[in-house]
Amino acid sequence: MTSERDPFSAPFGTLFSDSFTTAVGDGDSYTYSGAVEPLADFSLHPATHALHYGSTCFEGLKAHRQADGSVAIFRLDDHVARFQQSIGKLYLGVPEAALIRQMIVDAVAANTDDVPVNPGALYIRPTVIGTEPNIGAAATPSKTTLLYILNSPVGDYFAGGIRPLTILVETSTPRTTPQFGMVKSGANYVMALGVTLDAKRDHVADQVLFATEGDITETGASNFFLVDDNRLITRNLDESFLHGVTRASILTLAADLGYQVEERSLTVDELLAWGDGGEVFLSGTAAVVAPVGTVIVDGDRTTMGDGQPGPNTLKLRDALTSIQDGTAPDPYGWRTPVG
Ligand SMILES: Cc1ncc(COP(=O)(O)O)c(C=O)c1O
Repeated sequence: MTSERDPFSAPFGTLFSDSFTTAVGDGDSYTYSGAVEPLADFSLHPATHALHYGSTCFEGLKAHRQADGSVAIFRLDDHVARFQQSIGKLYLGVPEAALIRQMIVDAVAANTDDVPVNPGALYIRPTVIGTEPNIGAAATPSKTTLLYILNSPVGDYFAGGIRPLTILVETSTPRTTPQFGMVKSGANYVMALGVTLDAKRDHVADQVLFATEGDITETGASNFFLVDDNRLITRNLDESFLHGVTRASILTLAADLGYQVEERSLTVDELLAWGDGGEVFLSGTAAVVAPVGTVIVDGDRTTMGDGQPGPNTLKLRDALTSIQDGTAPDPYGWRTPVG
């Protein structure tokens, strides 16, 4: 990456490291050269399965610059496992965890100079696409695949750093289908676009919180939490939404910090009542821990707490980021050193 391209001023996800790793798959067997390659365009047959039938999915994780100058990847094995799960749900050949892991470590190790200091990070985007050239394969999976690990130096996901977000609560249109909620496939994101664009245009909302028939799950790219001085509440896991690695981290940290942790169903009515003194935040690899200041339901805006980032939200954010950037010990073994 050239030095004049600054991850803190470029939009999130628009800068890329100069090299990446790739492997070619045939069924469950993947061939990786064992070396990084210069980042280059792919040549794809116009009939490529992924382009027509959506046989593509990805992961999103981060490598962080540590306080001592070294680099560590956050919760690598959890992201590898989720990637394998997504790939399996698309009926593509599932690479061995050890191979995905090695390809990620190699791709990061070759680009450690690109890892910005906190709150920046190197965002890692493992991706797989079904490559079979066959436009008659709507009801058959692609046997051949291309797996690659792309790196993007990033600053803040939400322009403006830590600021209270405005979220619109969508109670009729779901984010995705029930069977694909826990799959990180591109189709889920494009499905949510219409609702998200409307929310931005009509309400100047930052994100949409999906709560079909009042049952709160997640936003378009993050999980959802209520917190006060004593309790932390989030939706219990099922197949309808993405099982965030940051979500799991927050649950562990909150329990250790003495919060009463509740994983259960959450209604929009409870959210609105919680706003009377309680705090609300989003969690995700990109979003980190992002405070919510305003919630819009049926066009009505409700301020959460005093509308500013609350002390419990900031405490949890700090607990998370200090493990990520190596300013705190790593009692759970979440860091994988690179290089
Ligand atoms: C739909 C969705 N929900 C939740 C999350 C948060 O997951 P994680 O914390 O693993 O990044 C993401 C981001 O990956 C996401 O895209």
